[in-house]
Amino acid sequence: MVARRRPERGARPSLTAQCVALLRACERLRPREQRLVDDPWALPLLEASGSALASLGRTRLGARLFAAALDRPPFGLARFVPLRHGWIDERIEAAFARGLRQVVIVGAGLDARAHRLAPRGAGEPRWFELDHPSVSTRKRQAVHALFGGRDPVRRVAIDLRYEPVAPALEAAGFEPAEPAVFVWEGVSYYLPREAIVAALEGFAQLAAPGSELLFDGMYAPRRRSWGERSSLVVGRALLRRVGEPLLGLWERQGAFTPEARLRAAGFPSTEVLAPPAFAERLRRAGRRPASGAPWFLARAARIER
Ligand SMILES: C[S@@+](CC[C@H](N)C(=O)[O-])C[C@H]1O[C@@H](n2cnc3c(N)ncnc32)[C@H](O)[C@@H]1O
Repeated sequence: MVARRRPERGARPSLTAQCVALLRACERLRPREQRLVDDPWALPLLEASGSALASLGRTRLGARLFAAALDRPPFGLARFVPLRHGWIDERIEAAFARGLRQVVIVGAGLDARAHRLAPRGAGEPRWFELDHPSVSTRKRQAVHALFGGRDPVRRVAIDLRYEPVAPALEAAGFEPAEPAVFVWEGVSYYLPREAIVAALEGFAQLAAPGSELLFDGMYAPRRRSWGERSSLVVGRALLRRVGEPLLGLWERQGAFTPEARLRAAGFPSTEVLAPPAFAERLRRAGRRPASGAPWFLARAARIER
């Protein structure tokens, strides 16, 4: 069950969505072989959405300072954010190669995949983007300013804290009989546990066999780790201040692990990657792994309904 509607987050655009887009833009200033993701639209979308942060992405110095500020241990955000985007890109491309043609991006922010990823084979993908109303409307305007009428995306304004995903997506033309890739990137952080559970159940309800769910999250700090706990206090205070409080932390063991919640929602086949599994990918891009980072990447396959 999703909680009853409470007062809105307001019309404020998502600052976290702008920050992660800027981190993707920062990657473009690196040599190609050192990029964890290649997103040529990150900066133009930031600019078109009127973000004041865009100015930082235009100069090497601004980008370096921004990335360095967000890359401090234990979080190593400037490495994890582009890494997760690149990892999800690869999974979507693999799904296209298997013939999937429905992609749902939940909490899309300034995600530009609909404009840069395309299947090699026949058939246009059907793209859906869900986001908080405060972000969805601005994104539509920014995409229009940048691409004119060429917007392949069906947009759904939804507050995941209070509204279920399945009816909203079906009303937008989602085809539940066809497999889909569901991307839920950088969003579980901002949802209370009951909304996380509701979202996972909603994805499972819509996912035909062959579908895949890709998402990430943050583990609660380890009891004995002073570094993780104190960094979290600072991170929480900053996020509360920008109106996007950190609500959804996952457990490493117990009932609220990603594996347990996925199983309970109806995704029995899962793969959860924690930082040691990212190390090789980072090294290949000439980057140091962030030791002790609390992130995970999760991939769940839907085998049967
Ligand atoms: C850190 S941004 C990630 C954006 C995008 N997925 C990316 O990786 O570039 C978090 C996104 O989650 C969305 N979000 C947070 N809380 C939400 C809610 N209650 N309902 C819908 N979307 C929400 C924000 O609007 C924002 O777009």
